[in-house]
Amino acid sequence: MAEETKKRKADHIKICLERKAQARKATTGFENVHLIHKALPEVDRAKIDLSTTVLGYKFYAPIIVGAMTGGTEEATKINGAIAEAVEKLHLGMGVGSQRAAIEDKGLVKTFAIVRKKAPNAFLIANIGGVQLVHGYGAKEVKKAMDMINADALAIHLNALQEAVQPEGQTNFEVVLAKICEIARALKKPVIVKETGAGIAAEEARELEAAGVKGIDVGGCGGTSFAAVEYFRVEEEEKRFLADAFWDWGIPTAVSIVEVTQTVKMPVIASGGLRSGTDVAKALALDACLASVSQPVLSAAVKSAKETEKVLSCLIEELRNVMFLVGARGVKELAKVPVVITGTTAEWLTTRGFKLRGYARRGAT
Ligand SMILES: Cc1cc2nc3c(=O)[nH]c(=O)nc-3n(C[C@H](O)[C@H](O)[C@H](O)COP(=O)(O)O)c2cc1C
Repeated sequence: MAEETKKRKADHIKICLERKAQARKATTGFENVHLIHKALPEVDRAKIDLSTTVLGYKFYAPIIVGAMTGGTEEATKINGAIAEAVEKLHLGMGVGSQRAAIEDKGLVKTFAIVRKKAPNAFLIANIGGVQLVHGYGAKEVKKAMDMINADALAIHLNALQEAVQPEGQTNFEVVLAKICEIARALKKPVIVKETGAGIAAEEARELEAAGVKGIDVGGCGGTSFAAVEYFRVEEEEKRFLADAFWDWGIPTAVSIVEVTQTVKMPVIASGGLRSGTDVAKALALDACLASVSQPVLSAAVKSAKETEKVLSCLIEELRNVMFLVGARGVKELAKVPVVITGTTAEWLTTRGFKLRGYARRGAT
C-alpha cells in the first residue's frame, strides 16, 4: 500500500511539473473582482505592514505555501526548499498527505525535513478526510502531527479526485462525523481544505459546527486534480471521467465569499492564486491568508533560493496593490471597496449573497 501511495505522489509531482494540469475553461473568478485605484493613497509605501496573526502565529505576510508533497526522495528536496524559504520569510507551509509515512516509518524523513529546515515557521500536517472514513483516527493523526511538530492539521477533501480515479475511494459516508471527532479531540487547530473544487456556504456551516478552526477553500481555477488524474491514466477509455470533470468546482473567488459570509473563523484562499494582485483580492474579500501551490512547486524543484524569489515577488506585488488602494496593513485591505462583476456576481447574487457592502466599504 505504501509503495502504491508513494508512486501516486511521485506521479502527481511529475505531472504538475511537466503537463498543464490547470483548469482549462474554468477561471478563479478573480478576473471579475476589481479593487478601486486610489489616486490619493495618503500612505507611505515603505511603512506598509504586511504582517498578520492567524491561529496564534504572526506571519510576516499573509501568504503560505499549500500542501503538496512528501514520501519520495524528490519530495524531500522540494519540502526542504520550501521550508527553508518560508523560514527565512517568516511564512508558513503545508506538507502533502502524510499517509505514505504513517504506513511506512522509513518515509518519515521526507516530511520531517520541514521542521528541521523551518524551526519557527507555521507548519501544517495533512491527512485525507477519506482516510478518516477508512480507518484512520486519533493515532494516525498524532503520528502525522508529531512527524513535523505541526502547528495545525489540515484534513483534505478530494471527492473530485477520488471520483475520477479508476482506483479512487468513493465512500465518503460519515466523513463529517470523523472530522468532528478529530477536531474536538486535537489540541491544535484543525483546518479543512478542498483541493481544487471549492467549499460552499452549506458545508462551511457544517464544518464550523463540527469544531473546525479554519477553512481553506481550495477553489476551482488553478490546479485541477481531474486533470492530474487524466494524465496519470494511460488507457484512453479510462480517461473520460477525468476529462469530463476537468473544470468541475466552485470558482475560488466565489468560494471565498460563500465561506467568509457564512462562518466566523479564519478563511484561507487557495486555488489558482498566481499573483500578488490575486492575493490582495482574496484578502479584500475577507480571506485572512492566501495559499499558493503549483507556482511554488516549479521553483522548489530548483532550489530554496528560487522558492524565496517567487514568494518575495508575490509579497512585493501585494505591497504595491496595498499602496495603490491606500491600505497601510492587511486589516485595512479587508476594508477597501471591491466591485464584483460578471458571472462571479451573478453566481453570488443567485445564491443570496449581498455584494453591495463590498463596493461601499470605502464610502464616507
Ligand atoms: C503536486 C501537488 C500535490 C498536491 N498534493 C496535495 C496533498 O497531498 N494534500 C492536499 O491537501 N493538497 C494537495 N495538493 C493541493 C494543493 O494544496 C492546492 O489545494 C491546489 O493545488 C490548488 O492550489 P494551486 O492552484 O495554487 O496549485 C497538491 C497540489 C499539487 C500541485
